[in-house]
Amino acid sequence: MAEKKAQLSVDGIDETIELPIYEGTVGPDVIDVRSLVSKGVFTYDPGFMSTASCESKITYIDGGKGILLYRGYPIEQLAEKSDFMECCYLLLNGELPTAEEKDAFIDDVKHHTMVHEQIRNLFISFPRHAHPMSVMIGAVGALSAFYHNDLVIDDAEHRQAAAVRLIAKIPTLAAMCYKYSIGQPFMYPRNDLRFSENFLYMMFGTPCEEYVPSPVIADAMDKIFLLHADHEQNASTSTVRLAGSTGANPYACISSGITALWGPAHGGANEAVLDMLNEIGDVKNIPDYIKRVKDKNDPVKLMGFGHRVYKNFDPRAHVLRDAAKGVLEELGHENDPLLKIAKELERIALEDDYFIERNLYPNVDFYSGIILKAIGIPTNLFTVIFATGRTPGWVAHWHEMISNPFKIGRPRQLYTGATFRDYPGK
Ligand code: SDX
Repeated sequence: MAEKKAQLSVDGIDETIELPIYEGTVGPDVIDVRSLVSKGVFTYDPGFMSTASCESKITYIDGGKGILLYRGYPIEQLAEKSDFMECCYLLLNGELPTAEEKDAFIDDVKHHTMVHEQIRNLFISFPRHAHPMSVMIGAVGALSAFYHNDLVIDDAEHRQAAAVRLIAKIPTLAAMCYKYSIGQPFMYPRNDLRFSENFLYMMFGTPCEEYVPSPVIADAMDKIFLLHADHEQNASTSTVRLAGSTGANPYACISSGITALWGPAHGGANEAVLDMLNEIGDVKNIPDYIKRVKDKNDPVKLMGFGHRVYKNFDPRAHVLRDAAKGVLEELGHENDPLLKIAKELERIALEDDYFIERNLYPNVDFYSGIILKAIGIPTNLFTVIFATGRTPGWVAHWHEMISNPFKIGRPRQLYTGATFRDYPGK
């Protein structure tokens, strides 16, 4: 089939510029604009609203239809039939594992969950009230200091080792953040537990008595990790890719992803949703809060609503909303006032023209915080949970980029500053 092309005519350039168009297996075509620099012009797209930064085979999102696929599998089916470890394997390798492959992967991850004892010294250098995300940024980047012999990113075995180590150790570091903040001893990981059970054990177990994770809570935790595992070229994943394009080691790249995720417009939103629900405090205060959200002079936004890509429901929010109901009932929190405020806020917002006109629907962060709170996770650890879930996605994108020919990411700009001028005097 003849290659599709775009014709571009630019004032000041005599010739019509022909640009190749590439088709994906699904989703919008892309116009290859790489030749424009040789014509003396750049494209201009702050926030990358219309820019495809790369080719990828990992995750597909259709924002208009509320579709999210991990390697082609719909998130709803994975949430119902798969688990986090299987999705980690799927995102990294492109196919679902056989039973033997899954067991071998899980066993590999289990035997890398411990962190070097020296890492404890990193923790005690932080104030106990430090935000856990600041500790995670430091601790994950610091991992590169302990694996300097395995950081040849051109070596596929080194890349695989780093992928397994990051997926295995980040939950351990996350639990250590919590233990350090409450003055309890760190709990070593246990290989007899499943991934999410082990995380809960490291979080809530103590040396003083046996701790048996609740299967309901472990399943909810696993579903939350699974739903956060990847999401195409979001801000933190794009940060990981940009850092990786310089050849930086994978631990440094994932630390940069954690940094970007922290912002309240991105992964920090789940913490901000709980703060918002607590600030609203009662269903009767919702109308006044909605008024503030609509007031252009008031910076307040409806946290957990809106999305750059989804102009329909975030499918993850649907799954989490149903899961929240089940978890809260199981845990006896079905009358949690925050859930009532959240549901009433969702109902009002979805009927309000301000939100309808702007395609503002609940996103993944709107309900995740309610489940995490019911499980007993402290609010300031919510984004750390998001980072723990997102690690396989970040690592899969880093691996995909490094395993194929790539160039250092180096955008240009529209310069509107001072033109050439001589230094005064002398
Ligand atoms: C995540 O990219 C990803 O995939 C991210 C993520 C992932 O899995 O990696 O899905 C995770 O980050 C989810 C999003 C979590 N963030 C929040 O819930 C914070 C609240 N949401 C907003 O900050 C906002 O919706 C964004 C940042 C998510 C999206 O912003 P956009 O696409 O840049 O949209 P915009 O800011 O241009 O908004 C368009 C209009 C504006 O109004 P007008 O100027 O046209 O009048 O919608 C308004 C905005 O003011 N708007 C909101 C709003 N979000 C957008 N108004 C009130 N409340 C909101 N939440």
